[in-house]
Amino acid sequence: MVKAVVLGAAGGIGQPLSLLLKLNHDITELALYDIVNSQGVAADLAHIDTPAKVTGYLPPNNGLQSALTGAHLILIPAGVPRKPGMTRDDLFKINAGIVKDLAASIAQNAPKAFVLIISNPVNSTVPIFAEVLKKYKVFDPKRLMGVTTLDLVRASTFASEVLGADPREVRVPVIGGHSGVTIIPLLSQAKPSCTFTQDQIETLTNRIQFGGDEVVKAKDGSGSATLSMAHAGARFASRILDATIKKAPGITECCYINLDADEKCGIQIKNTTENLEYFSVSVELGPEGISKIYPIENLSRYEEKLLKDAIPELRGNITKGITFISEDS
Ligand code: NAI
Repeated sequence: MVKAVVLGAAGGIGQPLSLLLKLNHDITELALYDIVNSQGVAADLAHIDTPAKVTGYLPPNNGLQSALTGAHLILIPAGVPRKPGMTRDDLFKINAGIVKDLAASIAQNAPKAFVLIISNPVNSTVPIFAEVLKKYKVFDPKRLMGVTTLDLVRASTFASEVLGADPREVRVPVIGGHSGVTIIPLLSQAKPSCTFTQDQIETLTNRIQFGGDEVVKAKDGSGSATLSMAHAGARFASRILDATIKKAPGITECCYINLDADEKCGIQIKNTTENLEYFSVSVELGPEGISKIYPIENLSRYEEKLLKDAIPELRGNITKGITFISEDS
């Protein structure tokens, strides 16, 4: 029995993400929670002829608690998306509060679940989530991941356009954080091995870092990436299920994690990241979550500079998340 839960299931990401999870045959129960319309989305998806039993939950009658109980995997796209005219701080204030409250409920009702955070700003919402779990003494860094898969998906797509290759064949590791200059595509480590000119590297890097802006602009006030994000979230969820349910070996992904996981996984990468507590890195997934962290190595000169430029902003984002919780108590 595998129960997956989506918090924020009626939103722009939540609906297509829930649809893709309903199509995943490894999931036997799908719990959809939102503060509005989750029961409508659940009734609609429940008619699809796949095994997962779908239930919608709203806040009354301990809806959140019921949705979370027995969860194996929880995906969180709850919150507001970036809209033109909105400052990063506006977005932070709203989403930080939402993630904090959801974390408290997960700590009490599903402390062993694997949690995938989609709500932005991921650089700060993952530390917020972790700080709340720490308060409840249930934090396990191997089970909490910020979803940066959309950066990887974009990197494959954009790089394959330049190469004239099939995007399914092109893989580019993306490390660092999940906004603007904190996103560090490692084009020198693209697979299959290929060569880009410096011009192509700089153009591609900028497009991967700011790809979200293309969508916000094109949607012209109606939100940010939802469909590509739903695909990215469902892909990552399916990798987690492969590792934790099917116990498939050798599953590697990049995601944004608390680097304390490295003490348990045996590779010390904090030196490379100037002791940042959170970073997106390439990890191996096993039955208990993150089982191995790959070292950050063999960067090109250009990528080393990207890393150097990313660190101050990422440090600020992490501190902001941690402070949000410490000042709250
Ligand atoms: P949306 O506004 O369409 O949907 C958000 C949903 O969250 C709404 O249905 C809303 O009712 C619900 N919600 C609000 N407060 C809630 C609460 N306390 N509990 C449960 N549900 C609650 O927004 P959209 O476009 O789906 O984006 C969601 C989040 O995902 C945003 O923070 C956005 O910035 C982020 N995002 C993350 C990406 C990533 O790569 N990690 C990519 C794109 C967006």
